[in-house]
Amino acid sequence: MFKVTPWEVEGKIDYEKLIKQFGVRKIDEKLEKKIEKIAGKNYMLERKIFFTHRDLDKIVNDYENRKEIYLYTGRGPSGGTHLGHLLPWFFTKYLQDGFKSKLLFQITDDEKFLFKENLSFEDIGKYTKENMLDIIALGFDPKKTRIIIDTKNIKELYPLAIKIAKKITFSTVKAVFGFNNETNIGRIFFTSMQAAPAFLLSEEKNKKIRCLIPCGIDQDPHFRIARDVAEKLDYPKPALVHCKFLPSLQGEGKMSASQKDNTIYTSDSPEEVKRKIMNAFTGGRATIKEQREKGGEPEKCPVFAYYYFFFEKDNKKLEAIRRECKSGKRICGECKAELIERINSFLKEHQKKREKAKDKVKEFLEQ
Ligand code: TRP
Repeated sequence: MFKVTPWEVEGKIDYEKLIKQFGVRKIDEKLEKKIEKIAGKNYMLERKIFFTHRDLDKIVNDYENRKEIYLYTGRGPSGGTHLGHLLPWFFTKYLQDGFKSKLLFQITDDEKFLFKENLSFEDIGKYTKENMLDIIALGFDPKKTRIIIDTKNIKELYPLAIKIAKKITFSTVKAVFGFNNETNIGRIFFTSMQAAPAFLLSEEKNKKIRCLIPCGIDQDPHFRIARDVAEKLDYPKPALVHCKFLPSLQGEGKMSASQKDNTIYTSDSPEEVKRKIMNAFTGGRATIKEQREKGGEPEKCPVFAYYYFFFEKDNKKLEAIRRECKSGKRICGECKAELIERINSFLKEHQKKREKAKDKVKEFLEQ
């Protein structure tokens, strides 16, 4: 059993099943090569961390025909940024550099207010500021990147959101998101806010500009609706490229006492990182003796997943880790110790960049 909706991701996800359920397409080798030709190699493409799409081929064609395209992604500021959030943002940065394109980065503070029962608007404002620093720290080009905060930039978004909303019925959002008569009315409207940036540049420039949306596969339902609306409003359908989720440190489908221990936040101290990784679930055996004999199981191991998704980008070195694990040569303790070091050295740099980002926020916001 698993569940993937824009607001809940639970259980051990069967991505093959999800592809069928959502009706998305796998990124095949030919398409991968075309993107590599434009933007260079990327380990997330090679490893199928970014694995499915809608109309990504059309974006490539537009680019090859020198037609303008743009990127759009976003963040719902419901808490601190964790490492899993950074993956699609890194990928977006790679695409921005490669396609030399503009980027709209939406912060859906309205969404988190409407969908989280226990979060005040004030807290969300705090997370908005925090999350923006993480985004800016990744090095997006300020000349080509606009951060849009829904409740702050409502003037630009609202005229478009109502055009979109007019084309979406209650029965559609009921079917797509499982809403019912008890759902608050803000939630019912919200998908039109998330769709708006997908057409915003076309609207502003009065020209058809296709956008590409890198996002977690859980966000796809919003954009299925946006793509239907696009036709009705005569905008190009937004293209999508989807990624998988960084697994929970406690093992997939298992709940830990504290959700905070499932993941590493960008603000975590070296001690917190150490504690979380040392407590992580692994693909190891009950005893060292057994592990030496049978070897570990990297395919079930969140620690290995952290190397795979983030901390070992060299394919040969990653394969060596896998081999050593499976042969019983690599023991969980040393594997964890190495990961802790890598995470902490990444975070040390990231936290410095995050500090510097404080002076740059203005450059990214709408005037
Ligand atoms: N709804 C997303 C979230 O909860 C935030 C978001 C808004 C987004 N627009 C997006 C994510 C576009 C990806 C792409 O995090």
